[in-house]
Amino acid sequence: MERYTKPAVLLHWLIALLIISAFGLGLTMVDIPGLTPTKLKYFSWHKWLGVTVLALVCVRLLWRLTHKAPAYPANMPGWQQSAAHGLHLGLYVLMFAIPVSGYFYSLAAGVPVVYLGVVPLPVLIAPNPEWKPLLKATHYWLNMTLLAAFALHVLAALKHQFIDRDNIFKRMLP
Ligand code: HEM
Repeated sequence: MERYTKPAVLLHWLIALLIISAFGLGLTMVDIPGLTPTKLKYFSWHKWLGVTVLALVCVRLLWRLTHKAPAYPANMPGWQQSAAHGLHLGLYVLMFAIPVSGYFYSLAAGVPVVYLGVVPLPVLIAPNPEWKPLLKATHYWLNMTLLAAFALHVLAALKHQFIDRDNIFKRMLP
């Protein structure tokens, strides 16, 4: 059976790992009361993780746009193929939009991002108290949408593996 290419598989699992870490750290850090050194450290780590995801997602999008994904089995119903396509498209949009919203939120809050504490990243907008709450809410709700999309994605993979037994899941395994 046709499978995903090695770079596609590597990017899929690397990005998944980084997103799960950034998500967990994001929820953890906002719950720390006050403005402690630990909280500030977690914010920095969160931003570095997120910026890394953004860079990798750009590479992944380029790879995906220049390489065809393996075809679905012929007996997979059309609506399921369309649903899978739509969900994958949605996941790409979210994987891109979430770090971008976080990045602009940080800038609107007046905190430019210094990648790994070494490389100052472009300050694309000035601090903006009006946009700040909007961008914060955008970052939050995009994340909750990602959580729902991710749940569907995993459930679908499990259904293919254990109910349909059609080896779709194996195509993305290393
Ligand atoms: C894969 C990428 C990312 C994921 C999955 C992610 C996820 C999250 C989550 C779940 C939260 C907690 C939201 C809440 O409960 O209010 C959060 C908060 C935050 N994120 Fe991200 N994030 C990502 C990328 C980024 C990037 C690239 C930046 C900035 C450069 C960033 C900046 C922030 C900030 C500043 C907060 C704190 C919001 C607050 O002040 O309450 N995020 N993120």
